[in-house]
Amino acid sequence: MTELVQNPPLDGAADDTRKDHPLWSSRLAFILAASGSAVGLGNIWKFPYITSENGGGAFVLVYLFCIALIGIPIMIAEVMIGRRGGRSPLNSMRQLAQRDGLSRRWVWIGGMGMLASFLILSFYSVIGGWALSYVGNSAGGLFVGADTETIGAMFGNLLSDPYTLLLWHSVFMVLVIMIVARGLSSGMEKAINILMPVLFALILVMVGYAMSTDSFGAGVSFLFEPDFSKLTTEGVLTALGHAFFTLSLGMGVMMAYGSYLPKKVSIVKTAVTVSVVDTLVALLAGLAIFPLVFANGLEAGAGPGLIFQTLPLAFGQMSGGVLFGTLFFVLLVVAAVTSAISLLEPVVEWFEEQKGISRLGGTLIGGLSIWALGILTILSLNVWSDVHPLGMFERFEGKTFFDLFDYVTANLMMPLGGLAIAIFVGWFMSKQAGENELDMGNGLAYNLFMFVLRFITPTAVLVVFIYNLL
Ligand code: PHE
Repeated sequence: MTELVQNPPLDGAADDTRKDHPLWSSRLAFILAASGSAVGLGNIWKFPYITSENGGGAFVLVYLFCIALIGIPIMIAEVMIGRRGGRSPLNSMRQLAQRDGLSRRWVWIGGMGMLASFLILSFYSVIGGWALSYVGNSAGGLFVGADTETIGAMFGNLLSDPYTLLLWHSVFMVLVIMIVARGLSSGMEKAINILMPVLFALILVMVGYAMSTDSFGAGVSFLFEPDFSKLTTEGVLTALGHAFFTLSLGMGVMMAYGSYLPKKVSIVKTAVTVSVVDTLVALLAGLAIFPLVFANGLEAGAGPGLIFQTLPLAFGQMSGGVLFGTLFFVLLVVAAVTSAISLLEPVVEWFEEQKGISRLGGTLIGGLSIWALGILTILSLNVWSDVHPLGMFERFEGKTFFDLFDYVTANLMMPLGGLAIAIFVGWFMSKQAGENELDMGNGLAYNLFMFVLRFITPTAVLVVFIYNLL
């Protein structure tokens, strides 16, 4: 148990709305929590299939560049805003803008971010539910000796059955609500202290299993031998967009976690550590998955179905497939849960700041509304698969609710949020604020960071953003 500790009030700030605010118990606690947020379905489900769709090594290289040049600077900026504001993203932005005498409109960064986490969690939880149901499928031996049709039908049947989807979505949300409701120290930190070591152990076990196949080398060269002829403009943009998603950036999640960060912890070092951990897990996931796929003579380019269709097929043909298949889907659930709690936290933190709403009350209001919104994603997969709410606009043609939530958050809200955060910290926030929060002194490192945040990051984000719109 950590006692309630508070960062000292900031230089001359009117600290009226702030309640007693807990803090992460240590630097490690923050690193685990932020890595838990970053490492999720994005690393284990999305990264491997977008890598395979974009030809492997060259794509990985571009992705690494994006993490370094865009991801890390924005993460530093976000954590800094959060710690300095010490509140939910919306109120932290309000505080910072007020303190530096800037327009109140900056509050929108926080507001839009919170809305984005609301939307993302509503469908993230449904996919988390798929992972939960696949733990059962694998443990029950349903993959053993199954052919492509059987495995395809298994996935198809799951998606076409709203009640089963609702059941798993509900189980997933209940887990998340239970953890978040118990608060920062006895809920989130406790869960993360157990779940993250489990996650790291499981990913290593899975890589070990992949090493035991004779296709490990093929997996390694697929991931690390760049073939630039396979890289398209589209691929570059996908890599950039994924850098945002995988590091949980542009929507206030890192601000919310940063608001609980003790003053003495170095933001720069921790942000770099979290980014490195996230990247390592994505690469390890690739090393765990591709060899299994190749060892069984399967194709890697299966798109989103890679881990729900191709991989089960591989497990069904391998010795130890039941055990390792089950462990793999447990890994996926763990990764999804630690990200999902970070998506609920900004909303709950904001509710807590409202008069008369307790942590439990805020978690229930937030969690249940998100659960209800998730029903739209569930129906998009079956009964409402032909309902296209914004179909009258060409851009949104043929998109279900699920597609819309995914598209709008990933392609519009996250990059816009990231851009605004970079501009806010790079161009508007007082210089003194940055120097106070970042222990880079006034030296070369600080100037380099500011240069990247002012020019490189916004330009890169703008390019993707505009390309996405065209
Ligand atoms: N980073 C998480 C993943 O890779 C997803 C996420 C996005 C979590 C945004 C929080 C905020 O799966």
